[in-house]
Amino acid sequence: MTLQLGDTAPDFTADTTQGRIRFHEWLGSSWGILFSHPKDFTPVCTTELGYTEKLRPEFEKRNVKVIGLSVDSREDHDRWAEDIAQTQGARPGFPMIADADRSVATLYGMIHPKASTTLTVRSVFFIDPRRAVRAMLTYPASTGRDFNELLRVVDSLQLTDAHKVATPVNWRPGDDVIIAPSVPDEEARKLFPQGWKEHRPYLRTVRQPGT
Ligand code: BEZ
Repeated sequence: MTLQLGDTAPDFTADTTQGRIRFHEWLGSSWGILFSHPKDFTPVCTTELGYTEKLRPEFEKRNVKVIGLSVDSREDHDRWAEDIAQTQGARPGFPMIADADRSVATLYGMIHPKASTTLTVRSVFFIDPRRAVRAMLTYPASTGRDFNELLRVVDSLQLTDAHKVATPVNWRPGDDVIIAPSVPDEEARKLFPQGWKEHRPYLRTVRQPGT
């Protein structure tokens, strides 16, 4: 089954570098980011994991728990963590799923057989506190992801959940946002009493709420 936006993120039980977890229970009332790595002891993944650890305070600030996965053993994950600490200056303090039997990778569709029959692609699933999949990214093994983009997506999801707005191209926190097209002007006048800029009737920009 292909996961789609709005689907409930499948629950699972798995061994991780922080012990055995039940995914939904582990998430608790947090947002979650589940991301896969093709293989332990590979260069791009090593840089991604070190950087994720450096960003961990930023994820925590946003009430997001991060969890990695690759189709290797827990022992390999533990040995690799030492390399990551030495080469990237940060040892992953978040759990890494040891998915040697590929059960979680299969559940989430992280193996794309035309890319590789054995390794996962670089998947990212953004999961909200109700366990709904809210966004997904898929990159090939050779392209490292921009983990700052993961924070930006979380910021957009959390902002657009809280206010009737959408975020425009290349939006960064603090930039102007777009009034949701579903909001008629009459309602917009109440929600945004400071006014907005109407570029077209369907394109109304306003200062980001809360700034
Ligand atoms: C890497 O993480 O560097 C990598 C993993 C699998 C294939 C290619 C690159």
